Order: sequence, then C-alpha cells, then structure tokens
Amino acid sequence: MTRIIFLLLWASAACAAAPFSHRLHLGLKLECLTCHPAAARSTRAGDNLLPTREACLDCHEDAAIPPPQPVGIVQFSHALHLKMGDVAPFLAQALDHQDYLQPAGSIRAHLNTHNPCEACHRGMEESNQVGASNMPQMADCLVCHSQIDPPFSCEDCHAKDAPLKPASHTEHFLTLHSSGKLQFDKSTCAVCHGRTFQCMGCH
Ligand code: HEC
Ligand code: HEC
Ligand code: HEC
Ligand code: HEC
Ligand code: HEC
Ligand code: HEC
Ligand code: HEC
Repeated sequence: MTRIIFLLLWASAACAAAPFSHRLHLGLKLECLTCHPAAARSTRAGDNLLPTREACLDCHEDAAIPPPQPVGIVQFSHALHLKMGDVAPFLAQALDHQDYLQPAGSIRAHLNTHNPCEACHRGMEESNQVGASNMPQMADCLVCHSQIDPPFSCEDCHAKDAPLKPASHTEHFLTLHSSGKLQFDKSTCAVCHGRTFQCMGCH
C-alpha cells in the first residue's frame, strides 16, 4: 500500500510536460479499453477515441490529452472489425506467404500479442510516444480488402476527392513509365496497383 501511494504521489508530480508513454502505462497492467473505451463502439474513422481527462485522475492530479492525429481515411469501423476477433493471424499468414503488399519491417514479430487491438496498433508496449509505426498501414487492410482497382476501390476507405496519386506520377507518366528510362522499384507499385492487373493491353 505504501508503495502504491508513493507511486501515485510520484506520478502526479511528474506528469506535467512529458509526452504520454504507452510503455510506462501498459507496464502498470492497464488495459487498452480502460483508457480508450470509445474504440469498442466506434463506427466512424473521424471519431475521437482518445481518453478523457477523468481516465487519468485516479493516479494524477491533472492531465492534458493532446488532440487526435489526423487520419488519411474516411471510412473505418472499429466496432465492426473488433467483432472479427484478433485479425493478427490473417496478417501473419499474408506476411509468411509473401502476399503482403508493403515492406514488412518488424511487423511480423509484433503479431503474437493476442491483444486484438495490437493486431493493428503494434509495438505499444515499447512506445514512449505513439507514432506512425503504431498505426496500421494500408497493406494491413488489403490483406482482406484484396480487390484493387484504382481509383474505384480506393473510395472504400479514402475520400472521393483525396489526392492519392504519388508525386512520381507526373503528367506524362503513362508514356514515361514504359520507356525504360525510369529506375523505379516495381515492388513499390503493388500497394496501389496490386500484383496482377491489366492496363490497355500491355500488362
Ligand atoms: C493509461 C491510459 C492509456 C492506456 C492504458 C492506453 N492508452 Fe492509448 N493513448 C492514451 C493517451 C493519453 C493517448 C494520447 C497521447 C498521444 O497521442 O501521445 C493515446 C493515444 C493512442 C493512440 C494514437 C492516437 C492518436 O491519433 O494520437 C493509439 C492508436 C492508442 N493510444 C492505442 C492504444 C492501445 C492499442 C492500447 C493498449 C495496448 C492503449 N492505447 C492503451 C492513453 C492510453
Ligand atoms: C483492423 C485494424 C484495427 C484494430 C483491430 C483496431 N484499430 Fe484502432 N485504429 C485503426 C485505424 C485504421 C485507425 C485510424 C482511423 C480511425 O481513427 O478510425 C485507428 C485509430 C485508433 C485510435 C486513434 C483515434 C483518434 O482519436 O485519433 C485509437 C485510440 C485506437 N485506434 C484504439 C484502438 C483500440 C483500443 C483497439 C482495440 C479495442 C483498436 N484501436 C483496434 C485500426 C484498428
Ligand atoms: C494506474 C495509475 C495511472 C493512470 C490511470 C495514469 N497514469 Fe500516468 N503515470 C503513472 C505512473 C506510476 C507514472 C510514472 C511516473 C514517473 O515515472 O515519473 C506516470 C507517468 C505519467 C507521465 C509522465 C511520463 C514520463 O515519461 O515521465 C505522463 C505524461 C502521464 N503519466 C500521463 C497520463 C495520462 C494522460 C493519463 C490518462 C490518460 C495517465 N497518465 C493515467 C500512473 C498512472
Ligand atoms: C481480417 C480481415 C480484415 C482486415 C484486416 C480489415 N478488414 Fe475491413 N472489413 C472486413 C470485413 C469482413 C468487412 C465486412 C464485409 C464488407 O463490408 O466488406 C469489412 C468492412 C470494411 C469496410 C466497410 C464497412 C461498412 O461500414 O460498410 C471498410 C471501410 C473497411 N472494412 C476498412 C478497413 C480498413 C481501413 C482496414 C485496415 C485498417 C481494414 N478494413 C482491415 C475485413 C477486414
Ligand atoms: C481497405 C481500406 C483502404 C483502401 C481500399 C485503400 N486504402 Fe489507402 N490507406 C489506407 C490506410 C489505413 C492508410 C494509412 C493510414 C493513413 O495514412 O492515415 C492508407 C494510406 C494511403 C496513402 C498514404 C497517404 C495518406 O493519404 O495518408 C495513399 C497515397 C493511399 N492510401 C492511396 C490509396 C489508393 C491509390 C488506393 C486505391 C488503389 C487506396 N489507397 C485504397 C486504407 C485503404
Ligand atoms: C505501352 C505499354 C504499356 C501501357 C499502355 C501500360 N504499361 Fe505499365 N509498364 C509497361 C512496361 C514496359 C513496364 C516495365 C517498365 C520497367 O521495367 O522499367 C511497365 C511497368 C508498370 C508497373 C510496374 C510493375 C510491373 O508490373 O511491371 C506498373 C504498376 C504499371 N506499369 C502500371 C500501368 C498502368 C496502371 C497502366 C494503365 C494506366 C499501364 N501500366 C499501362 C508498359 C505499359
Ligand atoms: C500511392 C498509390 C500509388 C502507387 C504507390 C503507385 N501508383 Fe500508379 N496510380 C495511382 C493512382 C491513384 C492512379 C490513377 C488511377 C486512375 O485514376 O485511373 C495511378 C495511375 C498510374 C498509371 C497511369 C498514368 C497516370 O498517371 O494516371 C501508371 C502507368 C502507373 N500508375 C504506374 C505506376 C507504377 C509503375 C508504380 C510503381 C513505381 C505506381 N504506379 C505506384 C496510385 C499509385
């Protein structure tokens, strides 16, 4: 008991300026949904799923919650996807079979947590400041949403008018891309064009 009180006093003194550390707080055996209860019911990508200040006040005198980061998609339902249980085995299988359409980085090593949130939000236990590597990348979604047909399929998740063409696609890119003059890495095309596609008789 003394030790807990000591910890709490210590915590309230320390929390003013530092960034929020998931590593530290998950080490206290706190659950994702204790702080992010809104995630379980959320049906829209724009929902604010960050905790309210009240989630902190058992341990801190005061706390500041930053505004949520902007996201690049407009359609996503946490509630619907969480009904599927832990999707990590699907992602693991795609990686193991080399069906995954983006560089894998260290994703595979983070898919054995049995925490359904961490199938998409990986590496939380090691994160001192949440960032892009803790968010799903597009290839995660495409493991199941595997019909790729730009620009139509893009609108399942992105806004209709979102600028989704990469900067490489300049005005004459169609001619340029088949000229042999560009030194592009073909593996980087797959996430938007798929691995098997047809286009005007050449492919
Ligand atoms: C003690 C409370 C607490 C716990 C437990 C917690 N989080 Fe968080 N989480 C926060 C706070 C506060 C933020 C906002 C701070 C920030 O973005 O740096 C945040 C931010 C996030 C973000 C980024 C949101 C954004 O756009 O900035 C994600 C994703 C996230 N948490 C997922 C999780 C997952 C998954 C778990 C469980 C493995 C978890 N959190 C456990 C408090 C918590
Ligand atoms: C199938 C993948 C997937 C799973 C599983 C998943 N998330 Fe997310 N999460 C996303 C995506 C995509 C976003 C960004 C779009 C959005 O905010 O809805 C996101 C965003 C978030 C954010 C930031 C929202 C904001 O306010 O900016 C939090 C917090 C979060 N998730 C927590 C959780 C928690 C907690 C769980 C488990 C109960 C969970 N997620 C499970 C894909 C997932
Ligand atoms: C179960 C108790 C508990 C809860 C709930 C809790 N914290 Fe903490 N928090 C701690 C402890 C313990 C520390 C460690 C203090 C230290 O190491 O300086 C800490 C440290 C911090 C720090 C300083 C981190 C650092 O690296 O020095 C911040 C910022 C913080 N917490 C924010 C929050 C926010 C925001 C919430 C609510 C979303 C929250 N905490 C909820 C116990 C808690
Ligand atoms: C494990 C497989 C799986 C993964 C991974 C997955 N989804 Fe889904 N998703 C489904 C299924 C199944 C449905 C329901 C059937 C349907 O509408 O296609 C669905 C439905 C959707 C819908 C339509 C929902 C609605 O309200 O009509 C969107 C949008 C979506 N997913 C976005 C995403 C995004 C974004 C990601 C990645 C962060 C993702 N999905 C990852 C399986 C998955
Ligand atoms: C099943 C959902 C889904 C589909 C379908 C989808 N994307 Fe994405 N896309 C995502 C997610 C998730 C991210 C990463 C999250 C983020 O950037 O906020 C992303 C990121 C991107 C980005 C990175 C820049 C940005 O906006 O943040 C581009 C560019 C992109 N997608 C283009 C496309 C194109 C082109 C298509 C159609 C061929 C497409 N996407 C189809 C889910 C999807
Ligand atoms: C005139 C024939 C021709 C047409 C038409 C054409 N391509 Fe290509 N494409 C090529 C050639 C040749 C390459 C190989 C270039 C290289 O290796 O430098 C290529 C490479 C690619 C690649 C890299 C991956 C791969 O499979 O080689 C993508 C992606 C691609 N094209 C997309 C498209 C799309 C999308 C269209 C339709 C809008 C299209 N192409 C139309 C000839 C064509
Ligand atoms: C971030 C997603 C993304 C990536 C990565 C990507 N493309 Fe595209 N690409 C698009 C979109 C979106 C279009 C436009 C589709 C439409 O409107 O018909 C397009 C169109 C094209 C076209 C038709 C000409 C044009 O500019 O519209 C060619 C050729 C093409 N891409 C080749 C490639 C090649 C080769 C690569 C890999 C080096 C690649 N793309 C990587 C998203 C992408």
